[in-house]
Amino acid sequence: MNERDSEAVAAQLVAKGYSLAKTENVADVILLNTCSVRDFAEQKAIGKMQNLAADVRKNRPDVVLGFMGCMAQSRGQELLDKLPDVDLVIGTQKFHHTADYLEEILSGARKKIVDVAAEEKSEATIREHLLNGSAKTSVSAFVSIMQGCNQYCTFCIVPYTRGEERSRTIPDIVAECRELVSRGVKEITLLGQIVTSFGKRDIPNQNGKSAFVQLLDAVHEIEGLERIRFTSPHPKGYGDDLIEAYARLPKLCESAHIPVQSGNDRVLKLMHRGYTREKFLGIIKKLRAAKPEIGITTDIIVGFPGETEQDFEETLALAHEVEFDNAYIFKYSQRRDTPAATMPDQVPQKIREERNQRLLETVNEIGARKYENFIGRQTQILVEGPSKKNAARMSGRTRCNKIVLFDGTARHRGQIMDLKITRAGSFTLYGDPAIVNL
Ligand code: 5AD
Repeated sequence: MNERDSEAVAAQLVAKGYSLAKTENVADVILLNTCSVRDFAEQKAIGKMQNLAADVRKNRPDVVLGFMGCMAQSRGQELLDKLPDVDLVIGTQKFHHTADYLEEILSGARKKIVDVAAEEKSEATIREHLLNGSAKTSVSAFVSIMQGCNQYCTFCIVPYTRGEERSRTIPDIVAECRELVSRGVKEITLLGQIVTSFGKRDIPNQNGKSAFVQLLDAVHEIEGLERIRFTSPHPKGYGDDLIEAYARLPKLCESAHIPVQSGNDRVLKLMHRGYTREKFLGIIKKLRAAKPEIGITTDIIVGFPGETEQDFEETLALAHEVEFDNAYIFKYSQRRDTPAATMPDQVPQKIREERNQRLLETVNEIGARKYENFIGRQTQILVEGPSKKNAARMSGRTRCNKIVLFDGTARHRGQIMDLKITRAGSFTLYGDPAIVNL
């Protein structure tokens, strides 16, 4: 989501005649896009800004420094008070004003700007993609379909930083997707804080299909589009209509990132998640019945207030039972103004760390086994481009969302290819096209 926001702001500035700087040392404007899901992310952004102020600002006093994103939204003016070098703080519903604000600052009309107000209809305002200029059209693109979240999980700051759920219309989203496909995009990931709640208020169910499934159907119609993904859903959104969509829509990839957060019913209730362990396991079972090859990943929080050793062991057991392809584990972090921050029985940091370690070992062990299972098998990937770590290798993803590296060249970019998997590394597969495509 944040990458998508950064890309939209960059595209907006490029459209106004700015160009992307190679490094921050030569940039005239440096905007840090921030996340506040955990305290660690906030501290990192603040530290980075302090370094920029000390290094870049010292040599070039005219450089404009700004924060955007969730921390900008939740802290606002406080950031200017704490970091006097900061010129600009743009809230999550105000991205589309970035160019105007920069103009005011660069022309000297205003010295500092903080805007974290809510904006009516903000969901339709940001849709620019970096398609022009020197940037090559990417093979895979993100499309924002909704913003905000009304779930109010007790640990989560997102409803306060992103605001109420607002959805774009289906024709508007389809038009953007069509445009991307006409420029060479092959895979689209529909984005939102809680995508399965898409259009809930405005679009009535039709023939048993929720608004979100109606959207999947509409996007699926786009000729030339090869693959559809979405993130992040909420388990409560996995009704039979969505499960059937996996079986029905060939472009919908066999992959699901479904945050479970905990394997214990009492903790799930305290978290205000709205499902039980049993219900979650039922969804996984149905998904695997519909698509046996489906890749399933999740998010888990350890050390939520009141989580006992026994509760945690239920989460461990759930990880064993489901055998996630991967799981992102988060040590519970107290977020201001969230109900969980003041709940009794906060878990000591040391125990949060210890549980994190134990769960990580389990997740890695299961993940390694799942990845090794692919060795010797033939699998289909969409080639995205050179690997980030080693530009001599090309990188693609399987339909179940596993990264595969192989010796290829730029001409493979954007192609759907069959590879034979020869080796598995840490959450990465290695493949050989030669064997299959002789
Ligand atoms: N502490 C730790 N992890 C959190 N997440 C959200 N809020 C918190 C918090 N306060 C995690 C959840 C969510 C993921 C994006 O971040 O697991 O799914």
